[in-house]
Amino acid sequence: MVVLPLRPARLLPHYANHPVKLSGNTVLITGGSSGIGLALAEGFAARGSRVLVCGRTEEKLRQAQQRVPGIAYLKADVADEADRRRLLNWVEAQHPDTNVLVNNAGIQCRVQLTDGAEAIDTGEIALNLEAPIHLTALFLPHLLRQAEQGRSPAIINVTSGLGYVPLAATPIYGATKVGLQAFTQALRHQLRGRGVEVVDLAPPAVDTPLLQGALEPNGGAGPPAIMPEQFARDALRALEKGRSEVRFGGAQLLYVLNRLAPRLAFRLLNRLAS
Ligand SMILES: NC(=O)c1ccc[n+]([C@@H]2O[C@H](COP(=O)([O-])OP(=O)(O)OC[C@H]3O[C@@H](n4cnc5c(N)ncnc54)[C@H](OP(=O)(O)O)[C@@H]3O)[C@@H](O)[C@H]2O)c1
Repeated sequence: MVVLPLRPARLLPHYANHPVKLSGNTVLITGGSSGIGLALAEGFAARGSRVLVCGRTEEKLRQAQQRVPGIAYLKADVADEADRRRLLNWVEAQHPDTNVLVNNAGIQCRVQLTDGAEAIDTGEIALNLEAPIHLTALFLPHLLRQAEQGRSPAIINVTSGLGYVPLAATPIYGATKVGLQAFTQALRHQLRGRGVEVVDLAPPAVDTPLLQGALEPNGGAGPPAIMPEQFARDALRALEKGRSEVRFGGAQLLYVLNRLAPRLAFRLLNRLAS
């Protein structure tokens, strides 16, 4: 008889996590005042979790609070080191039972690399890549304490299908997302057995201000996009099943196509997007 040296969960990285329970948490969502973050906030709140959000714009945060009663917020820029520390201090002082961190805040910029060195100063690397890495490191001692107290902590990093196949018009964005995917995988490995679940959540095209801003200004309708609420519903269902890499729709298509025929995947995506 052949004995497999690995548990099946190890052979199926999509299902390597314990389920993330959706109720009874205190969930901090960066960029939770709009789009995907706001829809996730609504989803977690509807299932009986307390939700904290942060963002840079007071008005958007206030509107989020009106839409999702019970939300608490802090105006904070996660690309700023002092603000990240302020966020941790706020959580430890006022919401010490916070057990889920969702690194969601992000931007996507069209960049023409032949436009000169300044063209790449979009802030994407600081926000999409450095901020989640630093915030995770800052929050880790807190989350490990939550694990010791049996509070089932989790870190959910919002990446993108464009981390599998880059969109040439937004070259820095793709670089930050593939970087965040690599970081998430390494983090999951380092935290194995420590009681903190680590999830890579890669949305397909979702109809949000970010997507509208990233579309070709004079182009067509853009990729078929789903509504943030639908994405959040499907994503939360996947978290509940214990999936450590969550992707569906266009993100799953890009993932599979990239493994089968990477050059074709790149050509197809960039032809469709132009
Ligand atoms: N929409 C898509 O098609 C799509 C697809 C794949 C992946 N994603 C990823 O999903 C995440 C959310 O995107 P979205 O489409 O929901 O975008 P969105 O609707 O534009 O929301 C972005 C949120 O991030 C906040 N934010 C921006 N800069 C920030 C900063 N420096 N510090 C703190 N908060 C900040 C924004 O609020 P303020 O501007 O007020 O700060 C807002 O709440 C991003 O990581 C994005 O890369 C989106």
